[in-house]
Amino acid sequence: MGRVVVTRRLPEGGTDPLVTAGHEVVLNDEDVAFTKLQLCGAARDADALLGALTDRIDDDVLAAGGTRLRVVATVAVGYDNIDVSAARERGIRVGNTPDVLTGATADLAFALLLAIARGLPEAADSVRRGEWQTWGPTAYLGREVHGATLGIIGMGRIGRAVAQRAAGFEMEVLHTGRGGVPLLQLLARSDFVSIHCPLTPETHHLINEAALDKMKPTAFLINTARGPIVDQAALRRALTEGEIAGAALDVTYPEPLAGDDPLLTAPNLLVVPHIGSATGATREQMATVAVENLLAALDGRPMPDEVS
Ligand code: DGY
Repeated sequence: MGRVVVTRRLPEGGTDPLVTAGHEVVLNDEDVAFTKLQLCGAARDADALLGALTDRIDDDVLAAGGTRLRVVATVAVGYDNIDVSAARERGIRVGNTPDVLTGATADLAFALLLAIARGLPEAADSVRRGEWQTWGPTAYLGREVHGATLGIIGMGRIGRAVAQRAAGFEMEVLHTGRGGVPLLQLLARSDFVSIHCPLTPETHHLINEAALDKMKPTAFLINTARGPIVDQAALRRALTEGEIAGAALDVTYPEPLAGDDPLLTAPNLLVVPHIGSATGATREQMATVAVENLLAALDGRPMPDEVS
């Protein structure tokens, strides 16, 4: 039987199948992200790590696992925090949790799109501050979402789910990738640009000054993928100088973003704390898939979702 270190608190009962299968489960009761030192310590004497996107699993951590560490399962679809090629070289298998979070993440992308287009945060704040005057024909004006053009960068599972939601709003949908349009054309034509690609060396700062420059001054940017896909300094400038109309971000760098980060001084910006998959039901399913990945790998079976 194996020794499994679980780096973050999972939904109630999430690790029960590991215990039932006879594995030793070591929990992080603090539920605070491990430092590199703690991760190395966790990997030492572990057969498996059950981690999250807050764990940077680099080659040092994998090396600390010696010959014993056999599997790393992350409770996330994104695995840019794991050095997958180093894991492969060491014969350590890596699992992730796609599919189960597609709907929740697409819902959040659309919620952000609607919120930033219609100025919901500012409108709600004004009510709380007691500033709601009588109804006015020119008060609280936002932008139309229905009938607008949505550009989706990354037409994978989540991108396609966002496109389905857009169909209900009678939006024209453009996308990058196979059968789609070139990025620059998408940026120039879209009223809303929503990012759904993974973070890779190729997509790092994909949305930089030049890309933002291509967007319409009336357009909005939505990012529920990974923070570093957007150059935040360039975004701050673009918002401050009115080069785009607004941005809504579920992801930033670093995470968490400090309350006094310069980005937050930009106008027409909505930032939420990486909550794309944060519904009770979705997080339970993510934990289930991650645990199934672990159980399979520890048994030497194919993992339901293995990163290859
Ligand atoms: C993921 O799974 O990669 C999301 O960013 C967090 O749910």
